[in-house]
Amino acid sequence: MKLPELRTPRTVVAHYAAVDARLLQRYLRDNATFLAPWEPLRPPGFDELARIEERQTQLLADFLADRGVHLVALDPARTQVLAVCNFTNIVRGPFQACNLGYSVAAAHEGQGIMFEVVQAGLAYMRDVVGLHRVMANHMPDNHRSARLLARLGFEREGFARSYIQIAGVWEDHVLNALVFDDAPALPGAEPDDRGDA
Ligand SMILES: CC(C)(COP(=O)(O)OP(=O)(O)OC[C@H]1O[C@@H](n2cnc3c(N)ncnc32)[C@H](O)[C@@H]1OP(=O)(O)O)[C@@H](O)C(=O)NCCC(=O)NCCS
Repeated sequence: MKLPELRTPRTVVAHYAAVDARLLQRYLRDNATFLAPWEPLRPPGFDELARIEERQTQLLADFLADRGVHLVALDPARTQVLAVCNFTNIVRGPFQACNLGYSVAAAHEGQGIMFEVVQAGLAYMRDVVGLHRVMANHMPDNHRSARLLARLGFEREGFARSYIQIAGVWEDHVLNALVFDDAPALPGAEPDDRGDA
């Protein structure tokens, strides 16, 4: 199975395991304060190179086992991480669905970078991975995330009280989904059904 490598107008999008760990570390460190209010608490050492390399190994295993697709957007010269976009909790059978999470570097927020990266990721999940539904949730006051999902075609499906711990606090979330209505039926699809992906 080939690791994804996607092109968008302003980025190259690679699998998390295929990116220089030092660039991932710089993204985490440069954006730690910016991301903290919107993400789960990170354990001590989360941004150390050894931990990042462990996650690369784990996330490669997740990709090969059809559990998740973790994408990293870099500038075309591959000198810095611009954004990350994670498709997790892939479920097959009659569901064919996953969850989506994302973030953009503070210095690149408000430029449409996240939009083009998630759009490319969604096309990959629809056309190569072969899913039918992608679910993405945000805190009610995360207006940037809400606008991004709306622009991508996601529809609000509900509201979950005390849904997930963000920055150490149980937070309500707005539930959204994008359904690929024209996705072909995939009866009994198995991980290897990704063809040459
Ligand atoms: C949520 C988050 C990813 C949104 O990022 P973003 O940069 O606002 O999203 P986009 O890439 O869609 O950029 C949209 C903005 O770029 C502008 N833009 C500029 N050029 C553009 C282009 N070529 N195409 C589209 N939009 C463009 C849009 O007008 C829009 O501006 P506005 O929001 O002020 O109206 C970002 O705020 C973030 O990382 N937050 C912290 C982590 C987080 O919240 N993650 C999600 C948890 S649910």
